[in-house]
Amino acid sequence: GKGAAMVTAWASRLADQTRQIAETLAEFRLTKEQLLEVKKRMRTEIQNGLSKNTQSTATVRMLPTYVRSTPDGTENGDFLALDLGGTNFRVLLVKIRSGKRRTVEMHNKIYAIPIEVMQSTGEELFDHIVYCISDFLDYMGMKNARLPLGFTFSFPCRQTSLDAGILVNWTKGFKATDCEGEDVVGLLREAIKRREFDLDVVAIVNDTVGTMMTCAYEEPTCEVGLIAGTGSNACYMEEMRNIETVDGVDGRMCVNMEWGAFGDNGCLDDIRTQYDNAVDDLSLNAGKQKYEKMCSGMYLGEIVRNILIDLTKRGFLFRGQISETLKTRGIFETKFLSQIESDRLALLQVRSILQHLGLDSTCDDSIIVKEVCGAVSLRAAQICGAGMAAVVDKIRENRGLDHLDITVGVDGTLYKLHPHFSRIMHHTVKELAPNCNVNFLLSEDGSGKGAALITAVGCRLRQQEQK
Ligand code: GLC
Repeated sequence: GKGAAMVTAWASRLADQTRQIAETLAEFRLTKEQLLEVKKRMRTEIQNGLSKNTQSTATVRMLPTYVRSTPDGTENGDFLALDLGGTNFRVLLVKIRSGKRRTVEMHNKIYAIPIEVMQSTGEELFDHIVYCISDFLDYMGMKNARLPLGFTFSFPCRQTSLDAGILVNWTKGFKATDCEGEDVVGLLREAIKRREFDLDVVAIVNDTVGTMMTCAYEEPTCEVGLIAGTGSNACYMEEMRNIETVDGVDGRMCVNMEWGAFGDNGCLDDIRTQYDNAVDDLSLNAGKQKYEKMCSGMYLGEIVRNILIDLTKRGFLFRGQISETLKTRGIFETKFLSQIESDRLALLQVRSILQHLGLDSTCDDSIIVKEVCGAVSLRAAQICGAGMAAVVDKIRENRGLDHLDITVGVDGTLYKLHPHFSRIMHHTVKELAPNCNVNFLLSEDGSGKGAALITAVGCRLRQQEQK
């Protein structure tokens, strides 16, 4: 009768909807062949960044860091460190003691950087930073100490020495004017002068490098650093003979890859989706950092949000109603994605998280949202793994080895908080670089400790030069 016909119509509509959602999410599923292709393209871009002829236009910039060795345990002294560019801005005091019992003691304070300051003028940004240093010194009761300072500045910098770095361009949420093209250490020193106090800035350090150094302090086989956090990036010890942008052929130097910009020349367009395009268009740096926008914490939630908007428009979610909340950029922070994807969480709890974000969901909605998050984070972990597979295989070939054992120091909120990201990433590296045995080591506060270790080496080099 009529009732049965209605049920049939309803069932077929439901089946159709399920199929359409599955088709949408299938765009995020990459085959092993596609991932191997990502690895291969990363390898090509690495080469472009290292070679003299191609480096000026290379997307993966492969920036020399002037860090020529990992720590050897003789580092010693008290240092200040700044950490700018991650989830929090921090000032730290790091006390490193060498000798039989090596110890590192740290004190730190987190400071807010208001969005207005992040996106105002360079002068205001650096004045704020120096204000925080001065507050920290007061707080620690060491106003008059002139300690050597290491500046972890997690943005692409073209370095000419350990203590000089020209900001190539801002990434992530920063956009202060008059900084791009300037020496960041110079900007910091000027701001210190304006406040009429004295500090000795010894090194500028990318967070990946700080992370690698921190892990290498405990584990000498660590020669790679990885950040899977707000942004995504890696560094590793490259042979000097391969770094054509720096004179000299002996030994190794750590290279800050700036792999977040992978794909900026269009080489990932075949795997990017309409949602990736939408995220890019709405970002502060459209057209830039395309790989980072597919695999880092600042953007995964945005991809999810754009898919949810589309599914809602198509009537599959939230009763077809696009709420103001859903229109708000940045609502899905890494910590929420991580909670939603946690296996221990019942659907009712997923609904309560959505509720907390201001999204009224049905039980069916919450199932779909969880699936969307899963598809986005799976792809993120896999392409991050594909990039890492390219790096470790490059190192293996550099050394003419059939098999390489290596440790990667890792940090970042996505890696640490997400319930599946790390496992999937590890698995992908294993699958795509079968000749490497890669050990991932979580870094304990790499940005602070690492900057201090590099500063210690910088001080030692300076003393040697003065002799
Ligand atoms: C962005 C920055 C890079 C940093 C990474 C992780 O990609 O450009 O320098 O290492 O984020 O914080």
